[in-house]
Amino acid sequence: SMAERGGYPHFMLKEIHEQGGVCRSTLKGRISGGSVDLSGELSMDEHTMISFRAVHLIACGTSYYASLIAERIFERWTDLDVKVDIASEYRYRDSKITPDTLVVFVSQSGETADTLAAQRKARACGAYCLAVTNVQGSTLARCCDDVLLLKAGPEIGVAATKTFMGQITALYLLAMYIAKVRGTFPIERESELIDELLQIPYKIETVLEREHLIEELASKFAFSQNFLYLGRGISFPVALEGALKLKEISYIHAEAYAAGEMKHGPIALIDPNVPVVVVAPKDSLYEKTLSNIQEAKARHAPIIAVGFDGDERLASDADHVLCVPPTLEEFSPFVTVVPLQLFAYHVAKKRGCEIDKPRNLAKSVTVE
Ligand code: G6P
Repeated sequence: SMAERGGYPHFMLKEIHEQGGVCRSTLKGRISGGSVDLSGELSMDEHTMISFRAVHLIACGTSYYASLIAERIFERWTDLDVKVDIASEYRYRDSKITPDTLVVFVSQSGETADTLAAQRKARACGAYCLAVTNVQGSTLARCCDDVLLLKAGPEIGVAATKTFMGQITALYLLAMYIAKVRGTFPIERESELIDELLQIPYKIETVLEREHLIEELASKFAFSQNFLYLGRGISFPVALEGALKLKEISYIHAEAYAAGEMKHGPIALIDPNVPVVVVAPKDSLYEKTLSNIQEAKARHAPIIAVGFDGDERLASDADHVLCVPPTLEEFSPFVTVVPLQLFAYHVAKKRGCEIDKPRNLAKSVTVE
């Protein structure tokens, strides 16, 4: 009913709007004295954390894209060998899983069959298994050595939104905590990073206030048949997640590519009927992304960019810009993903799709 949906027409929209709060609750109680502290809830001790040589992040679907974001963060802050894999691949391949490997299983439900099977394999290899999940008491949580919970509350919409936000929040905290214990965290930037992380929930809320602009743009493009999503670095997984949302609920073909890879294939698909959505925060790869925008423009694709407030260059290069409040480059996915979720939602709505229960998809896939 409308009441269950908190007055929103769909659970998905309600859940998108809860994301500032989800980020805030997932941070709550985990930062003290200006530093991340998970020692009260994780049983892994300092000795264990120092003995890790590698971290593997294993997941499916949206949780896999959250893991790809975390991969960049673990690479930046820790000295660990970092790998990310899809659970249905990991469970059957010959990657080296050793007792000094930390394997992080990221699963909203904690019940995804492939993720559970991957966990059994890692456990058999003697790895340290950590569940990052929204469901305390889920099968995954019960089978792992440790659990880090996201505090997203139950998610009803089949397309994951607020749990993605909870996952990246929890994974950033985990990366920061492990890096700190291992002595690889950039201590001179700690207060700057923590202060900014605490501002993120407000910045998410600022993006949500701009929904009407995103809705307007969605009506312009609701009947396009193909979309290309591009991003570099930490924005590449954001592009993947944006394209996945559009596919899942609007049934429009959307492909996401690392922007620098466009010239190796997808550029052949570009024409005036293929909108190109570019995730372009002002970070160290910004200039490179701008040249990819030029390449797409030269083929007359309409360009929709997601970028920071006040970015005049982006505003002049792109046909449409969805602006988000600026943040440190490490944290841009928290804000850049939100307009893409809202865009997918409004496109699907204009097309009259069944947003909360898209065809052929299940909230949780408990069979292989
Ligand atoms: C299904 C859902 C997705 C979800 C994926 C992984 O495919 O439709 O939204 O991302 O499963 O689910 P999990 O519960 O393991 O995060």
